Amino acid sequence: MTESFIGHYHPFASFPNTRMRRNRRHEWSRRLISENHLTTNDLIWPLFVHEGTHRAEPIKSMPGVERLSPDLAIDAAHEACQLKIPAIAIFPAINETLKTPDGDEAVNSSNIVCRTVTAIKNACPNIGVLCDVALDPFTQHGQDGLVRNGYVANDETIEVLCRQALVQADAGCDILAPSDMMDGRVGAIRSALDKAGYEHVQIMSYAAKYASAFYGPFRDAVGSSRNLGNADKRTYQMDPANGDEALREISLDISEGADMIMVKPGMPYLDVIRRVKNAFGMPTFGYQVSGEYSMLRGAADSGWLNGNQAMLETLLAFKRAGADGILTYFARDAARLLNNA
Ligand code: PBG
Repeated sequence: MTESFIGHYHPFASFPNTRMRRNRRHEWSRRLISENHLTTNDLIWPLFVHEGTHRAEPIKSMPGVERLSPDLAIDAAHEACQLKIPAIAIFPAINETLKTPDGDEAVNSSNIVCRTVTAIKNACPNIGVLCDVALDPFTQHGQDGLVRNGYVANDETIEVLCRQALVQADAGCDILAPSDMMDGRVGAIRSALDKAGYEHVQIMSYAAKYASAFYGPFRDAVGSSRNLGNADKRTYQMDPANGDEALREISLDISEGADMIMVKPGMPYLDVIRRVKNAFGMPTFGYQVSGEYSMLRGAADSGWLNGNQAMLETLLAFKRAGADGILTYFARDAARLLNNA
């Protein structure tokens, strides 16, 4: 609905001729007039992986979410497939001993991400697999790129990101998702992929990614919060104060070859999703990040709100804002409910 529509009709639409509650009176009627729908096709399920076999480890700040060994990640992928979740995202918690200042393990073609992706694609070829392109799970300082003179060096980082993208594509990753916010990395990754014959590998760019406190639990999950300490990511992630800047970020990533774009975090930034969808009409995704999950889950576990209802309401709100899909730690729970509805 557009503003002009309201302006045009408003003078005629007055009580008692117009009773907005008429359409809401019956359940069938509410179904009939509903504008947006959430389905399992809208969901991407992020999974955390770590070394071992048959090893699941709870994440304290994300109740109900566990780090999984690769074999358990395969089981989760199977379950996602059965639930008709189109894609999963793989995030690693690597051993502290493998972390280096420059995050070398990120470009090791047999690192935990690559091994897990290959195993999942072999076991479950029909699910889409997405991988982050960024160095923070692999660096001793927890930053997304290479730190030079106290600053995350843009161009030098891009070279490593391209190598990371290539090992992940080699492993069978379907969608590469640069989450690092370096300038120019989408174009560089696109041409690196194309040169290596991976012209079909998709790029979902974390195009408007804000420097957010809501990533806290994720950093616990991948084990980067201790490394990061009191440092932050404000010299590359966006200022939460800015909306116009998100449109510039996104237009650049589109021109560099992004197939899909993402806004992150989600719930506090639904206005940005709407603006982006209106401006570009691209496949647009919202990331309901770890802190949003934990907030809802914590309140539900305390009995302060109805968890299932609140979860589905937030996911539907992403759709209403214009998102084509949502990355959410609730994907499995939501899909179970949607499939049984
Ligand atoms: C890594 C990355 C982060 C998230 C996704 N990829 C954390 C960060 O930028 O510090 C956050 C996801 C979440 O909070 O659920 N660059």
